[in-house]
Amino acid sequence: ISACLVGSEMCIRDSTMIIKRPRGTYDIFGSELNLKDFLIKKMEESSKKYNFRRMITPIFEHKELFTRNIGETSDIVSKEIYDFKDKSNRDLALRPEGTIGVVRSIVENKLLHTNPLPLKYYYYGSMFRYERPQSGRAREFNQFGIESIGIYSKYQVIEVIQLAMSFLKELNLENFILKINYIGCFETRLKWIDSLKEYFKKYENDLSNDSKERINKNPLRILDDKIDGSKEFVKNAPSISEFYNKEEIKSFDEFKTLFKKLKINFEHDSSLVRGLDYYSGLVFEVIGVLPNKSNTQTIIGGGEYFHLTKELGEKENWSCGFALGIERFYDFYLECNNNKFENDFIDFYLLPLTENALDYINENNLISNLRKEGYSIDINYTFAKLDKQLKQSRKHNPKYLIIVGDDEIKNKTIKVKSQITMKEEIINCHNFLNEISLIVN
Ligand code: HAM
Repeated sequence: ISACLVGSEMCIRDSTMIIKRPRGTYDIFGSELNLKDFLIKKMEESSKKYNFRRMITPIFEHKELFTRNIGETSDIVSKEIYDFKDKSNRDLALRPEGTIGVVRSIVENKLLHTNPLPLKYYYYGSMFRYERPQSGRAREFNQFGIESIGIYSKYQVIEVIQLAMSFLKELNLENFILKINYIGCFETRLKWIDSLKEYFKKYENDLSNDSKERINKNPLRILDDKIDGSKEFVKNAPSISEFYNKEEIKSFDEFKTLFKKLKINFEHDSSLVRGLDYYSGLVFEVIGVLPNKSNTQTIIGGGEYFHLTKELGEKENWSCGFALGIERFYDFYLECNNNKFENDFIDFYLLPLTENALDYINENNLISNLRKEGYSIDINYTFAKLDKQLKQSRKHNPKYLIIVGDDEIKNKTIKVKSQITMKEEIINCHNFLNEISLIVN
């Protein structure tokens, strides 16, 4: 019998209930996980160099936290929150992003009063948005994020942006563009939004149905809509810069001067608005430009925010942060490296040809000493013939094989064979650590 029960995620096949992963989620394993772990490790190292410390916040929070603070007009609140009631009837939600949880934690744990400012935190983990799954958009995805809270200098905002770009540069990725815009304060934005509403009403018939709905709710989203965003009248819509007050003109100019002084290449994109409502001042995105130019994706998004600490119970604080989408970064990294990732190796694969050979390896503490030195090791326990073990070893992708048979036991040696150069060396078992380090280096 084969009958579908719930879409394609659950079905009965031969009287067994087959349950698949929910739509928009992914299992991550093998070389994909190796590379994602490697990228996170690199970002963690970079963040620590800038004195950011890790923070872990809950994966679910009170729903109110997000509905109040991400903004009524953002798509995340109106359509994309993954909310649920728990057994005590509490309204909870899976976090759609990391900033709000970090700020909530900072306020709740009074960190602004017990630590020097700015508070500098990084975080990574799963985020959840009920989006229509498509390339670059999942319902469960991973972010690596940074928040610098209680900022008192523009240099600290620039530092956050430099850190964002160092993630890419340290991995030798150069095909990206830093886009910036200045979106001013709430009052300035309200004036801009009102004028956009008026403007788009005149072009209502030329807009898609989605955009038509946004005219009154969130006209900013029309500006970066995939289809409507490229239409000439949308490009000519009023720009936020027409509504800046004197301080905002000065502030944006100062930022641009700093970028130039510090030789940070950027593009000013006056249509860059960001999908979350809490930003004020400078916002930015890093766009990966793949060799196939039509395939550009926003890898990093962030900016300054001011009101969040106040909305959550403290006074206002200038803050700045960004988040990088790990799945998009992974695709971008692979694409830039012709789909090759060199880190998918184990250091040593051991081939004891007999049980005696394994005893000899253990008596000489070969495995434990190599692991203590930080090498990754796996062992073939089949005691099969050399040919068969060599064939099996290929699937493990080792950098070196260590082969031990009767000859090695008799001569108190081990055989080390590089899988890169295919060179074989016989080394003395008593001094194996030193000799191996000479071979490996
Ligand atoms: P965001 O622009 O909503 O900003 O998300 C940041 C990044 O997460 C995006 O540029 C993208 O790479 C990735 N991303 C977002 N949604 C998805 C999805 N459905 N599937 C896969 N990847 C996705 C924020 O989340 C802000 N909290 C950033 C921030 C931190 N601003 C200040 N501090």
